[in-house]
Amino acid sequence: MLRLLTGGESHGEALVAILDGMPSNVDISPDFINRELRRRQHFFGRGKRQAIEEDSAKILSGIIKGKTTGSPISIIIKNKDFSIDRLPSVFSPRPGHADLSGALKYNLKDMRAIIERSSARETATRVAIGAICKGLLSNFGVDIISYVLAIGDVRVSGYSSFDKIKALLKKSLINCPDSRKEKEMIALIEKARANGDTLGGCFEVVVRGLCVGLGSYVQPDRRLSARLCGGLMSIPAIKAVEIGDGIQGSKEVGSKVHDEIYYNSQSGFFRKTNRSGGLEGGITTGSVLALRCFMKPISTLMKPLKSVNIISKKPVDAEIIRSDVCAVPSAGIVAEAVVAYILADAYLEKFGSDSLEEISRNFKGYLSQVKNF
Ligand SMILES: Cc1cc2nc3c(=O)[nH]c(=O)nc-3n(C[C@H](O)[C@H](O)[C@H](O)COP(=O)(O)O)c2cc1C
Repeated sequence: MLRLLTGGESHGEALVAILDGMPSNVDISPDFINRELRRRQHFFGRGKRQAIEEDSAKILSGIIKGKTTGSPISIIIKNKDFSIDRLPSVFSPRPGHADLSGALKYNLKDMRAIIERSSARETATRVAIGAICKGLLSNFGVDIISYVLAIGDVRVSGYSSFDKIKALLKKSLINCPDSRKEKEMIALIEKARANGDTLGGCFEVVVRGLCVGLGSYVQPDRRLSARLCGGLMSIPAIKAVEIGDGIQGSKEVGSKVHDEIYYNSQSGFFRKTNRSGGLEGGITTGSVLALRCFMKPISTLMKPLKSVNIISKKPVDAEIIRSDVCAVPSAGIVAEAVVAYILADAYLEKFGSDSLEEISRNFKGYLSQVKNF
């Protein structure tokens, strides 16, 4: 239903995105888009680039007087650090980046062009588009959060309720609901920075308010689980995704893993547990969706790793480029946007895709069908 194309370089004039397939009459607030962009930018552990950029999206088409029209939505995010023509050439590929594979694949000796497009700066466009998708989803009572579970080996233990986590995150410098662990995480980031090193970690995306029945098992590519994991794995540096208690579940017997089914006339069908993370058979169960993402440490090190100059073929240190020390909290914001895009697509697939009124009518009818099943 939805299609997205993004373009632009990290230090080019601007980033651009075109979102096709958004229905008409959805309220979209430019302030909300810009607030989401800023959420991606300013967590502890990010580099100096974020002090230069204050991202703001300009809507070029598809939204008139704060409402979508059904036409493609085009946005542009200007780069304040527009310096692509003045930047030095790069001949020393950084391990962990697309530098060397990209140079060989595109037959480019100067790796600057590869660095510019493979940069995670591109994720700003996805956050802006995700904000538009969140605008659509809010009409169906869907609420998405992300929070940091681990930085390096410092890990939050125990889980709270959705509302409690949401409230705690407001006070956090690194989008972590546990203030004691947050201090340890910040100390670890400071230590890595002092050592010229970097860190990865783990965050969770949690979605409340989804209806039962999004996605399908009838074709492999219609499984919502596959679409969500594919989308999350498209975020740079995400190396694994876990749905619900998937990893722990693989070590247990079935009786300890699957969520037993109950019924009463008030609630209809319900579960007392949600180990499946809200997905069974590639379809939403109506329980909270829980997706855990694991991010590798940032690849650009201030104390550079060994590399080879691609012209002289002599050993050198990898290129040093201004960089984040840890971007796990920001990746969580990108992941919220990616999940919003995929869920918006799933709602449009199930309930229609032309106008919000038509979709809302179909949605209401479906809820009553499920209630009276
Ligand atoms: C929000 C965000 C910010 C990032 N910032 C940086 C950075 O400043 N420096 C860096 O070397 N990598 C950064 N990365 C990670 C790289 O983009 C990533 O490691 C690289 O593209 C290769 O990852 P891949 O093998 O998963 O594609 C960031 C990733 C995300 C999601």
